[in-house]
Amino acid sequence: MIEKLLSIIPRNSKGSNAVRLRSHHLGSYAFNDGDVRKQIIDDHNFDGDLLNIFTNGCKHPVHKWHHYLPIYDKYFREFRDTPFRFLEIGVSQGGSIDMWREYFGDQAIIYGIDINENCASLNGQSGQIRIGSQSDESFLLKVVEEMGGLDVVLDDGSHKMKDITATLEILFPLLNERGVYMIEDLHTSYLRKFGGGYWGKRNFFNYLRNVFDDVHSWYHYAPIKHPKVSDYCSSIHIYDSICVFERGKVVQPKHSVIQNST
Ligand SMILES: C[S@@+](CC[C@H](N)C(=O)[O-])C[C@H]1O[C@@H](n2cnc3c(N)ncnc32)[C@H](O)[C@@H]1O
Repeated sequence: MIEKLLSIIPRNSKGSNAVRLRSHHLGSYAFNDGDVRKQIIDDHNFDGDLLNIFTNGCKHPVHKWHHYLPIYDKYFREFRDTPFRFLEIGVSQGGSIDMWREYFGDQAIIYGIDINENCASLNGQSGQIRIGSQSDESFLLKVVEEMGGLDVVLDDGSHKMKDITATLEILFPLLNERGVYMIEDLHTSYLRKFGGGYWGKRNFFNYLRNVFDDVHSWYHYAPIKHPKVSDYCSSIHIYDSICVFERGKVVQPKHSVIQNST
């Protein structure tokens, strides 16, 4: 019976039978020998503008994991062609800021921050670039003030555990209602040089577990640990190496029994 049911479910992935090549060396996951576009369409069932922009290439180089594209599109598409405020942490060579400009359109207010002063030369091309550290609260507040608020944050910065959580706690309370906060490259949670490690105390997913507990604080008496996130967070979504926090009203849960027997 179960085989029969499984056979009628359309599948576009190799599922759990896929051979897992496991490695701490991220270079071993580089896709060097084929058609990037086809790989993304076939393996991730994703097509559209963002795929075209990424695979056609922008003025500056952009380096992205292929499976991020559908996730970006899922959470970011509602902001396209609107005058919203987008902050990317980590500019590097500027390719992602180019990509976001093409994807979001001219109305978007796009800022990028980076600790590397060389990135200042990219200022004013596809977005505004400011130099400073993602864990420097006064710098971040200044940038957000200049932006006039914040609707979407993408953290692609240092990827260090302490920076990821520090930035989240500074910026999440500043997000607009219905804002989106996305952190990428969270595989660093398992890498010691980023302050992570499978058993590491600072592994981001341990932090996240505490946020989950806060979100469910209606149902237990333990202290709230991360109110700067959980007081404003309506949902959390986890993907391979990406975590998305959605900003929304936190309300006391209620339940009802309703019947209409007429
Ligand atoms: C992965 S790269 C960004 C790539 C870029 N978003 C892209 O997709 O093309 C990470 C960047 O974060 C910057 N960075 C490292 N530590 C930082 C910090 N504490 N604050 C801000 N930026 C930092 C690095 O200088 C580097 O340019």
